Amino acid sequence: MKIWKEPFGTTKKGEAVERWWLENKNGTKAAVLTYGATLQSLIFADTDIALGFDTMEGYEAQDAYVGAVIGRFANRIGAGRFTLNGKTYDLYINNGPNHLHGGKEGFDKKIWRAEEQEDGLHLFYISPDGEENYPGTLEVEVCYYLDEEDALHISYLAKADQDTVVNLTNHAYFNLSGHGAGNLDDQKVCIYADRFTENDENCLPTGKILSVVGTPMDFREMQPVTARITEDDVQLVRGNGYDHNWIINGDGMRKCAEAVSETTGIYMETWTDQPGMQFYTANYLTPEKKGKDGADYHPRGAFCFETQGFPNATGFEHFPTPVLHVNEVYERKTIFRFRII
Ligand code: BGC
Repeated sequence: MKIWKEPFGTTKKGEAVERWWLENKNGTKAAVLTYGATLQSLIFADTDIALGFDTMEGYEAQDAYVGAVIGRFANRIGAGRFTLNGKTYDLYINNGPNHLHGGKEGFDKKIWRAEEQEDGLHLFYISPDGEENYPGTLEVEVCYYLDEEDALHISYLAKADQDTVVNLTNHAYFNLSGHGAGNLDDQKVCIYADRFTENDENCLPTGKILSVVGTPMDFREMQPVTARITEDDVQLVRGNGYDHNWIINGDGMRKCAEAVSETTGIYMETWTDQPGMQFYTANYLTPEKKGKDGADYHPRGAFCFETQGFPNATGFEHFPTPVLHVNEVYERKTIFRFRII
């Protein structure tokens, strides 16, 4: 794998942003920004399959978290409130009545320090105690590594100096027919999950776990993404499409999802050690914000496989705990593998 960097512009605050390129011997390339540790491009078989923007102005004008690493807590926390060790913390409310994706200025908007190491590109961010009102200083390290078999590995490490809550993910938007293809009608998805977490009308898990059987959430076998998306199903109506946390079968590092484009033949396999995955069909993308090469990004014009701990896990004992204790290490990994079929 070759790694090099170039300047990518400056933020409104005047911070310099770098773009780092990773390339393997097949010519597969990934571009990662120090702004948000963002995956800005993913070029496989001469096709850029990850949505992104050409400039920092583009990134700062959008609110869809395109390609970014999300933290300190990915997805929603009900009413932005949680209690840890007897103390209640109130977080920023930025999504209806709830807290979403780390708050007003989450990890997606921070400048990360990048360093090339033997096993890939490492990005570092130190989230101070009390940032966005979360307890404890959290040291975070994300590593991107592109192997010679066209798999992109994203590893997450974090540790805190006090007990805190953590949920990290990557918010890449994929369109396997090309980032500007505009819809998902030629794409199929499979998710290795028998169950998902029910959402309320604000897309917040209610705590109830539902079976996918007999519902439009059943992706246990490859299904066309959009075949059932407009059905009058209460969960789809609440999500304005797919925007739910699937409970991935099994545990440890395992295959959690697959996707394929019938147009390009690009097939993607996703592996993770996380318990859940938010399958989100970009229901709120807005075309007025031009993407790379002037592309129009439409609602349902891409999908995200956000491997994660369960959203709203701070509220439920029966969800996997999001608590990271002092002196523990948070360690998670996701792999996106590509091939042509
Ligand atoms: C959330 C969506 C949200 C999107 C972009 C997803 O993880 O579940 O509801 O619109 O991120 O912010």
